[in-house]
Amino acid sequence: MSPHPTEVKVLRGRVLSFIDEPQAIDDAKSYRYIADGAVVIGDGKIVMIGEFNPRAAAHHEVIDHRPNLIMAGFIDPHIHFPQMQVIGSYAANLLEWLNTYTFVEEQKFGDEAHAQRIASKFFDELIRHGTTTVASYCSVHPQSVDAFFAEAGKRDMLMLGGKVMMDRNAPAALCDTPQASYDDSKRLLETWHGKGRAHYAITPRFAITSSPEQMEMAEALAREYPDIHIQTHVDENLAEVELARELYPNLKDYLGIYERYHLLGPKTLLGHCIHLTHRECEVLAATRSVAVWCPTSNLFIGSGMFDHDRLASHGARIAVATDVGGGTSYSMLRTLDEGYKVLQSRGQRLNPLRSFYMMTLGNARALSLDGRIGSLEPGADADLVVLDARATPQMALRMEAVGSLANELFLLQTCGDDRAVVETYVMGKAMKSALAG
Ligand code: GUN
Ligand code: ZN
Repeated sequence: MSPHPTEVKVLRGRVLSFIDEPQAIDDAKSYRYIADGAVVIGDGKIVMIGEFNPRAAAHHEVIDHRPNLIMAGFIDPHIHFPQMQVIGSYAANLLEWLNTYTFVEEQKFGDEAHAQRIASKFFDELIRHGTTTVASYCSVHPQSVDAFFAEAGKRDMLMLGGKVMMDRNAPAALCDTPQASYDDSKRLLETWHGKGRAHYAITPRFAITSSPEQMEMAEALAREYPDIHIQTHVDENLAEVELARELYPNLKDYLGIYERYHLLGPKTLLGHCIHLTHRECEVLAATRSVAVWCPTSNLFIGSGMFDHDRLASHGARIAVATDVGGGTSYSMLRTLDEGYKVLQSRGQRLNPLRSFYMMTLGNARALSLDGRIGSLEPGADADLVVLDARATPQMALRMEAVGSLANELFLLQTCGDDRAVVETYVMGKAMKSALAG
């Protein structure tokens, strides 16, 4: 007998896993749904999904989640962990919000104990909301990255993160230098990338806070580590666009700045993409970079309304994210609800199957991590969420009149939040029920 026999557990419930992007609300080929299903987990991975079979399950631990839905954990590809105490800050616009609150708050992350405390709260909050992977900005301080990956590692969570590179147009206490940003980023990347489930992301905050010399350093890192993700912001707010163009007057447009420093490509995550020119849409699509739509943030800060269909018609890759603390909720359900309303007001349609695809497999594909997360295919990491569409009295009452999976998902999106998240599994381990409090 092997000294460490594989521990197999079986989750029973209504199992939903996306296979491809739904083309319409009745696109049943885009997902697999099993009404009395089983997710078989061994060594933290999905062994298989199928009909629940009492005989096959007899020798294993069975966790009965009926009548709830079991699906892949949510993925949030743009968030700022140092902004937990910034959410809901009152400001006229993006640059005022950054200067008045965010650049003040982030200075606290020079204190390692503070960074550790907030990182711990951050992952607890993600688990509470059913989010199992994020791509996060850390602060300019290397110790914020150490705290981020150390806390993620304790929970065995697959996380992307990186030290913000910023050397101008911010308080001195929040500025590095081109050389220091290169040296620190490289050291942190070498330390953390590939350790457990950690993925480092090269993180020049945005063109406004990076000098051309710092952009060259980001470019050098990207050249040395071509498989590493890059995350930054672009075309979020009109005053920001104008300032970025003034700071790089010889370049064609805002996206052209990142293009000039060879920072665009399939592993590049571009937060916001609200005010793109026609040329920028073409460059975005041609480079296979990812536009990351952040609806609660764009509405809260008043930056503008994402034009989903315009980008889609250019063939651009699109992901969807919270952008906490500009964003106002950690919940991907709340995020897609606001996203739905943005598109609805533009006369664009977002059906609930596509919303739930985007939160899971769609965002996994945007991160080039499909096969590993975002679906329940055999061999994938067992990062899961269990959802209850009857979580509140009004949802339970509404559910009495819901007759289809698509409408149940739509109810979860429209009225759901962390209360609808019954359990969150990370590598097959129940995490939400294990949280204190
Ligand atoms: N642009 C540069 N930094 C930030 C940030 O922290 N939040 C948002 N929403 N936009 C930014
Ligand atoms: Zn952001």
